[in-house]
Amino acid sequence: MSKGDEDKVKRRDVISKLGTGAVGAAFGLPVLMSVRSLVPNALYESPRRFKAGRPEEFPDGPTFVPEQRVFIFREGKTFYCISATCTHLGCTVQLVRLGRTAADQTIEFHCPCHGSKFRGDGTNYAGPAPRPLDYFKLELAPDDGQLVVDMSQTADKGWRFTV
Ligand code: FES
Repeated sequence: MSKGDEDKVKRRDVISKLGTGAVGAAFGLPVLMSVRSLVPNALYESPRRFKAGRPEEFPDGPTFVPEQRVFIFREGKTFYCISATCTHLGCTVQLVRLGRTAADQTIEFHCPCHGSKFRGDGTNYAGPAPRPLDYFKLELAPDDGQLVVDMSQTADKGWRFTV
């Protein structure tokens, strides 16, 4: 075999291997991507149910839980929970105390993003928020008696939980 023939054979081998690799990639990548699509992406959301603490640990009035963005209210033995997530685009609303005396506990929630305002019961009255703040159900954990906030269940505005 002459030197020219050997070069042609080598070139043919290289082209053949490149072709095989290209065909493998053309069929293999979609298969790999299909298999990958079956594995769910990790979600880094806060849990929908969480323990907030024992009822006696809450002072009367509102307590903000920043990790889950909720306000838990205590009125004696009665509790309720209002979401701090603005119903416009999801910013965290801030509690504003309007009362000028210790006896006047009037509050509102104001959203710093686009100016929505909510009354103390969560009712929207100004700005672009389309609806009131959500209420979430509460219950007691059977194992340790802590208040459990269930953010997967909304409640009516008048819903209360008594311990
Ligand atoms: S996110 Fe609250 S007003 Fe827009």
